[in-house]
Amino acid sequence: MLVKNRFADGLDWADGLRQSKLGPPAYSTPFGAMFHADALDMLHSLPSDSIDLVMTSPPFALTRKKEYGNEPIERYIGWLMPFCLEIKRILKPTGSFVLDIGGSWVPGVPVRSIYHFALAVKLAEEFHLAQEFYWYNPARLPSPAEWVTVRRIRVKDSVNMVWWFSKSEYPKADNKRVLQPYSESMKSLLKSGYTAKKRPSGHDISENFSKDNGGAIPPNLIQIANTESNSYYLRACREREIKPHPARYPEALVKFFLDFLTDEDDLVYDPFGGSNVTGSACESSRRRWLATETTREYIEGSTFRFETPLFDSQANNKDSSRQNAAQTRSKS
Ligand SMILES: C[S@@+](CC[C@H](N)C(=O)[O-])C[C@H]1O[C@@H](n2cnc3c(N)ncnc32)[C@H](O)[C@@H]1O
Repeated sequence: MLVKNRFADGLDWADGLRQSKLGPPAYSTPFGAMFHADALDMLHSLPSDSIDLVMTSPPFALTRKKEYGNEPIERYIGWLMPFCLEIKRILKPTGSFVLDIGGSWVPGVPVRSIYHFALAVKLAEEFHLAQEFYWYNPARLPSPAEWVTVRRIRVKDSVNMVWWFSKSEYPKADNKRVLQPYSESMKSLLKSGYTAKKRPSGHDISENFSKDNGGAIPPNLIQIANTESNSYYLRACREREIKPHPARYPEALVKFFLDFLTDEDDLVYDPFGGSNVTGSACESSRRRWLATETTREYIEGSTFRFETPLFDSQANNKDSSRQNAAQTRSKS
């Protein structure tokens, strides 16, 4: 399944990278390859118009620094833009750039930074803003403690922005692939029928409203509780004394955008790979993938995501059933 320090047999599509200065991947799988490399080096090695989706979560401009290092607010946009300009070059005209980015506080005062909005404005000079998404994580801990739990003058920040940028105005996308189960009230409406009339807002609701389209069109608010606590990845990290990545996003978030914006065999790249949640989601969704990460230990840990444990139903079910419950709540 996973081979270390070389390209897996049959990864012909990665042939161009064999000649690049990147060297062999840290590991590869039937669908993709993880490189211990700076994302800028990978970006410079990739041909123009070659990637269907860049899905990533870069280090944020946080007041409390993560162990892998974060640029401060005042330098953040200057640091990230060179990556983004290259991302624009390597995206296919139909491609998308999905950027998960959390907010931040101005150090020392109960005031929010607007760095991620400023970033979006800057990026909109280069890309089209196809749509903004909000990832709501109900399990997020309250912070900064000083403002939220001690002085009680701010509330919990539990939403990340997920900016969906595109190279053209019509990137590949199909919301029929991310339909959600209908709510109970919609189900009964579909059963009993709907009389076409005008809403108080003036919107004309036609007979089509009572047509069963196989599910509800999802909103741009995605609710996923980031509660992974006993997954195979985490247990393998504990057993083998590898520090788990401290800022992982949930596989369900990646899966949503893979289903929505890509087809099987499309090529996806995560420049700030971390524990390679993106690669793992791609592998199970049969999308080809590339990832880069500069911290060796995160790459080591990420290999556990590609092991297939023989007997692991209990632990994984626990995590995924919790996640499913959260998703079901968000759908109803
Ligand atoms: C927010 S984390 C990504 C976590 C990942 N989405 C996951 O779920 O595991 C950002 C990662 O970017 C890595 N990083 C920072 N600068 C980088 C660069 N220039 N090239 C590649 N990786 C980089 C950091 O080491 C960190 O692991």
